[in-house]
Amino acid sequence: MAKMAASVVEGGEDAFRKIFKFYRRRNPPPDLSDVIDFSRCAPGEQIVPVNLDAAAVSDVEATRVGLQPVREWRAFGLRGHPGFIFISDPFLRGTQPFWLRQCLKIYPQKPNVCNLDMHMSPLETQDIWGQSVHSLRSSPAGKREARTLLERLRWVTLGYHYNWDTKTYSPSSHTPFPRDLHLLSAHMTAACGFPGFISEAGILNYYRSDSSLGIHVDESELDHTRPLLSFSFGQSAIFLLGGPRRQDPPTAMLMHSGDVMVMSGPSRLLYHAVPRILPAPPGRLALETGGCIQTPPTHEGSMVEPLSKEEWAVCSRYIQSSRVNVTVRQVLAPGQKFPEIPRSHQTTDTGQTDGYDDGESGKRKRSSRDSPCAAETLTH
Ligand code: OGA
Ligand code: MN
Repeated sequence: MAKMAASVVEGGEDAFRKIFKFYRRRNPPPDLSDVIDFSRCAPGEQIVPVNLDAAAVSDVEATRVGLQPVREWRAFGLRGHPGFIFISDPFLRGTQPFWLRQCLKIYPQKPNVCNLDMHMSPLETQDIWGQSVHSLRSSPAGKREARTLLERLRWVTLGYHYNWDTKTYSPSSHTPFPRDLHLLSAHMTAACGFPGFISEAGILNYYRSDSSLGIHVDESELDHTRPLLSFSFGQSAIFLLGGPRRQDPPTAMLMHSGDVMVMSGPSRLLYHAVPRILPAPPGRLALETGGCIQTPPTHEGSMVEPLSKEEWAVCSRYIQSSRVNVTVRQVLAPGQKFPEIPRSHQTTDTGQTDGYDDGESGKRKRSSRDSPCAAETLTH
């Protein structure tokens, strides 16, 4: 990274922004030789091993949510970034499709909130999956006139629903957090040394091959001592992890399907971004067994169920060109309450705009997030 950072950071332009643009560039495509690939590396000068608490999660508990025994996980840290933990695909073989199905079929359902709700009625968005399956199964996207609702999905919020305009959570916009995703998150964080994690808010990001996520820091949660958890499914991506200041030069790393990141301690409030989606390397896509359904290991009390043929076909088609990211956050410390807001400052929960800021101009992009061909930069 140092080499590349030094060569692109000239003339006083902010280092993070330059490197973001470098990796987002289409023509010519960027040189990826400085990008860390944790799936193929061993601890060295920059990459340090991380000790996990294997006793915090039993093998049975891990299996029930589709995870390998903690002692099998490959966990890494980065020198200079204490609290940042990268776990290279800790999922049991055949269990990722279940989590992907939850992200595509279950979590977009009401009462959860999604970008389509910003300009469609609840009636129209109540069955995104059902309205999309037929079309998604029958013909490739290029051959169809209209994109399905599933293909237009950009984000879903869970628990305390993040308000993109005010960048806050509010007790008046809260629905129950999915139990299965909480259990998965609680086991992941416990193994990383954070027992008692409470999953209170989730943001799911749905990326197409030309999407990116602008430079940001996740600071809306009121308790920053709790870690932030991030899961990747589907196509791969470049993740840029910067410093505590927006302009600090970032480290670039690859995220593949099944990878999990934990940002905790001093790394909880670091700037980060996703400048580019990349094709998954052979063998790293969750659903690529030639259309045959891998049966996940079933255990008594397991949350992970096999997919139906239809679910498999739709998830498999969707993921050929998309990436899904799930971030899980604890918003409040145990016993903490939201501060009282004077009535005159209260915002209503309706009237939110439909997404993120544009990372380049700083202006809010309202409609391009649903347009079929514009490349998007999403920013929190
Ligand atoms: C986020 C985020 C990163 C990713 O949602 O806050 O930083 O990997 N996501 O998509
Ligand atoms: Mn983030």
